[in-house]
Amino acid sequence: MNKSTKIQNNDQEPNRQEPEIRQPEIRQIVQLGNPILREQAQVISDLSSQTMQQLIVDLITTAKDAGGVGIAAPQIGVSLQLFIMASSPNSRYPNAPEMEPTAIFNPVIIESCGEVLKDWEGCLSVPGIRGLVPRPSQITTEFQTADGKKHRKQFEGFIARIFQHEFDHLIGLTFLDRVTDNKDLMSEQEFYRQVMG
Ligand code: NI
Repeated sequence: MNKSTKIQNNDQEPNRQEPEIRQPEIRQIVQLGNPILREQAQVISDLSSQTMQQLIVDLITTAKDAGGVGIAAPQIGVSLQLFIMASSPNSRYPNAPEMEPTAIFNPVIIESCGEVLKDWEGCLSVPGIRGLVPRPSQITTEFQTADGKKHRKQFEGFIARIFQHEFDHLIGLTFLDRVTDNKDLMSEQEFYRQVMG
C-alpha cells in the first residue's frame, strides 16, 4: 500500500518504486444521459491511497475550471462515494459563501430538518439548465475525510444544499429528479436575465 500523500516536490528521489505523481488534470465531465450518473456509487476503503489523492485534486481542479461549487466522482466517470464541496463566489454562483475545498468520502445523511426551501441549482452534468429545487435547510451527516477520520457534522443553508446535491450524484440522482414542477426549470440564458439580472 502506497502511503505517499505528497502532491508536489516530485523532483526528488527519482528512482523510487512509487508511480510518479502527476500534475492535477482537468477531467472531462460526464453529461446527463450517461448511465454512470444513474448508478449507486461504491464505498471507498482506501481513502489515503495515491490514486485517491490524485482523484481529489483532479476533482477540485475540474470543478474550479468549470465554475462549479461542488462535484462528485461519478461526474468524471468514477463511480465511487466521493464528492468535493468547494463553494466560493464565481460567475455561475456570485453569492456562494467562501470555503476551503473539502473532500467528502462515504457520506450518509442521518437526519434532515428545518424548513424545506426552494432555491436555484445548476449542475455541471446538466449544462444550460437551472431549476428551483426544494431541499431541507438543515442536515446532519456522517462522512470520512481523506485522513480516514469519521465526522458527524451539521450543515445548513447553501452548504447543506451543495451537500445534498452532491450526495444525490452518489445515489444516481440529479437535481432534475428533485424538481417538483417542470415550471421550476429555466434555461441558463433566461436564468441570468430574469434571476441574476
Ligand atoms: Ni451536479
